[in-house]
Amino acid sequence: MFSSRTAWNRLPNRLTVALQSLQARGFPVIDLTMSNPTLCEFNYSETTQSAWIDPITTPYEPSALGTLHARNAVSSYYSKRGFTVSPKHIVLTPGTSNAYSHLFQLLTDPGDEVVTAAPGYPLLEFLVDLHDVRLVRYPLLYDGIWRLNIDALKRVLTKRSRVLVIVSPNNPTGSFLKTDELEEVVDLCRRRNLALVIDEVFFDFSWSDDSSRAPSGVTVTDCLTFTLNGLSKTAALPQVKLGWIAANGPQTLLSESLSRLEIIADTYLSVGASVQSTAPFLIEQGDAIRPEILNRIQTNCELLDSVFTEDCLCSRLRTEGGWYGVLRIPSVLDDESYALHLLENYNVFVHPGSFYDFPFGDYLVLSLITPTEVLVSGLEKLQTDQLFQASSEPI
Ligand SMILES: Cc1ncc(COP(=O)(O)O)c(C=O)c1O
Repeated sequence: MFSSRTAWNRLPNRLTVALQSLQARGFPVIDLTMSNPTLCEFNYSETTQSAWIDPITTPYEPSALGTLHARNAVSSYYSKRGFTVSPKHIVLTPGTSNAYSHLFQLLTDPGDEVVTAAPGYPLLEFLVDLHDVRLVRYPLLYDGIWRLNIDALKRVLTKRSRVLVIVSPNNPTGSFLKTDELEEVVDLCRRRNLALVIDEVFFDFSWSDDSSRAPSGVTVTDCLTFTLNGLSKTAALPQVKLGWIAANGPQTLLSESLSRLEIIADTYLSVGASVQSTAPFLIEQGDAIRPEILNRIQTNCELLDSVFTEDCLCSRLRTEGGWYGVLRIPSVLDDESYALHLLENYNVFVHPGSFYDFPFGDYLVLSLITPTEVLVSGLEKLQTDQLFQASSEPI
């Protein structure tokens, strides 16, 4: 009856079982993984809250790639950041995840391979499964800063490799692609006939300036490139469900892509009329909410650094942007057992690094947009655990 592509192992892991059991027994969980910004006590403006345009009176003007009104707004988003993107090269989607789907439909056949970094965004595994393609990961390097390892990337390429996905800044490492890395990647994609997908959903969440950082993917001209973004992060509105693809690259490939994408998008009928009408306003509202989010991230980072000092067995990895913090933990327990230990003993919920496919070591990942008082109460509990203290003996 059912497709083999959806025959996922749905048995909950030990951590999920423990979490559900705590919640079922009514124990309050200190959740340090909260990454839905609308639940993290940010002050959205009243105008954002009432911005929704009445779905009945909004004219329904199906337009496969999106209305010109909304695509112009996306084009202005880029011009404000110093990049030129024609509205004609923009495709609107109901969220960035759907943008990935459109692109895998455009670029892959069953059995093809999509290549991306480890650690990386966990949902990509499911997105590729749904298109009968395989996700192949190559390891990033960390030596005080995360780097793309071009040799490791080249080693995993095969005849079936079709798409290279780069998330910049990456989820969860927060590392931005650097200019020299982008040049190497573009050269590789051009020579190996790979399409480049650059997911920039966290692009506006840079923690500091860095002149070695690559510009947006929309500047690439030498290989077929699709840059993804959307309102879920840039305007902190995940439930609005508006994402986009900005396509660029050699002219023949670009026009063929856009013609095919138009049919793919048209097959699903267009993105909701209300969200398209409201898009210019909502994109602009991102400018108002992001400083508050970045402030929260900075406060939470400072808090982590005050707890995980140099003499502590745990340390925070250097991050350049995004919403997540990564802690390196001593290899006394594996990361899942460690997360379980924290949940069972202190009701503190964090993600193990294995959830993000860390290729080495033991890591925990937490969300830095968590309300600071929640982080404080979580850290107070963690500080009582000997693994988080200096010179502790293994438990
Ligand atoms: C790196 C990355 N890409 C894409 C998405 C999905 O975004 P959307 O909510 O627009 O589908 C997420 C969601 O967290 C993400 O972290």
